[in-house]
Amino acid sequence: FISVIAGGFGIAAPTTSGDTDHGEHREITAQATAEMLANASSVVITPGYGMAVAQAQYPVAELAHQLRERGVNVRFGIHPVAGRLPGHMNVLLAEAKVPYDIVLEMDEINEDLDGTSVVLVIGANDTVNPAAAEDPSSPIAGMPVLRVWEADNVVVFKRSMAAGYAGVQNPLFFRDNSQMLFGDAKARVEDILRAF
Ligand code: TAP
Repeated sequence: FISVIAGGFGIAAPTTSGDTDHGEHREITAQATAEMLANASSVVITPGYGMAVAQAQYPVAELAHQLRERGVNVRFGIHPVAGRLPGHMNVLLAEAKVPYDIVLEMDEINEDLDGTSVVLVIGANDTVNPAAAEDPSSPIAGMPVLRVWEADNVVVFKRSMAAGYAGVQNPLFFRDNSQMLFGDAKARVEDILRAF
């Protein structure tokens, strides 16, 4: 499964990304994200390669801890090929002492995303791309993905509108329930912690 996705989809041919007009994206501040989280009853965090690049796992673990202290149901959703190595995200989260019982595999969390108050996409891109599920012409069509767009609200932490590893534009960023929180993921999560 991993080699099919990492090898097959990951080395996908150049795409038509950029040709499709997905409309406008919306941006959110760290302060407004903190307010959204303070009012959430459930939060799912889906990390990807950008969390590793930013070394954001420590403030992310602290954010999960503080939200749980406030009574929020916090879980992590891990895609099997998130990052660049098998188990990449699990290792980082374990390093940051995130409790194992709130770290769920994609298949364990996907059904629960519909009904989740807020999904925080921390430096993930291909693994949360709705085109894989909805656009048969997409180079990543058929790749199993985390269905984060089914949540009430999605906040995407990344530095720009750039594509991920597969080089495919991500329509998630343009959904009505999605907002972009631009910048380095570690710095932005630390901003949220300061805003609490
Ligand atoms: P990707 O699709 O690689 O996207 C990662 C995103 O992180 C990028 O779009 C980038 O956007 C963002 N990012 C980078 N540095 C950041 C930073 N400092 N702060 C915030 N965001 C940052 O990630 P994914 O969802 O984890 O998917 C993994 C991909 O790698 C899949 O296509 C998979 O097939 C492939 N792959 C996986 C493996 C294994 S085994 N895990 C092996 C080989 C290939 P910006 O540049 O805009 O910040």
